[in-house]
Amino acid sequence: MRQPIYYVNGKFVRANRAALPIDDLGILRGYGVFDVLRTYDGVPFRLRDHVERLENSARQIDLEIPWSTEELEDLGRETLARNDYANATVRYIVTGGPSSNFMTPEGKPSLMIMVTPIPPIDENLYKKGCKVTTTYMVRERPTVKSIGYIGAIMAVEQAQRAGALEALYKNERNEVTEGTRTNFFVIKDDKLITPAHEVLEGVTRRVTLELAPPHFTVLPRPIHYCELRYVDEAFITSTTKELIPVVQIDDMVIGDGRPGPKVAQLHQRFREYVHQQTSLANPPIK
Ligand code: PDD
Repeated sequence: MRQPIYYVNGKFVRANRAALPIDDLGILRGYGVFDVLRTYDGVPFRLRDHVERLENSARQIDLEIPWSTEELEDLGRETLARNDYANATVRYIVTGGPSSNFMTPEGKPSLMIMVTPIPPIDENLYKKGCKVTTTYMVRERPTVKSIGYIGAIMAVEQAQRAGALEALYKNERNEVTEGTRTNFFVIKDDKLITPAHEVLEGVTRRVTLELAPPHFTVLPRPIHYCELRYVDEAFITSTTKELIPVVQIDDMVIGDGRPGPKVAQLHQRFREYVHQQTSLANPPIK
């Protein structure tokens, strides 16, 4: 298969030629941030939100990035244009760059942009829902999309061994915060509840909250593990997963064990919004 084209520090290169010097602080010390967005029919979805979150992540770890928001957007669009995928993820990675003492940033951060085709989503996931597990973990800087995913990789491996799609994090107060790569929501009556703190503010989460009124009252607040027994529905969100109903958490069955109508309704509205955004950017040729 033809290799995708990536952007690496000023050059467009084939994926199998993409490389970073080994003295990069991203490799040596895990000092870096990233962000992932996707395209629908060639149109980047909420590009500005993702680029701003990347900048915000960098700011929070004192990683100064010399590119403006517009430059980052243009580089992302150009990398996309050099590939030819209708549906792709665009992964921005910024690391601390080379360091001669293997510790101090020298003001030359590395920027990489990877474009990867997305296989079609398995629609069965939306019809049947998924199982998730929980694990105790508090991310060091939850609002930063840092490249350090050690705990996440371990948690997902464990979850998959238990037949689950995703692992959710629980904090010291036994509150469920988010998933390893997803945000978490529950629905009780007309209330849509999702944690507001100790989480990465997902763009899918943001869009879901924008689309919720007037059908739902949005309650941004912690979700205690014990209250999961009493919720009507639950779901996880992310750029590549959209909204996936959760029908089982550890041994606990959610609702009647099948995806409920409210998540389906929200997902429908999400897809309508995506369609609207995509057709605005790609007006039909008359
Ligand atoms: N993950 N929480 C965490 C910790 C995440 O890593 C992600 C995204 C999300 C959801 O954010 P969004 O809706 O903007 O995708 C929440 C990406 C997709 C990843 O790690 O590949």
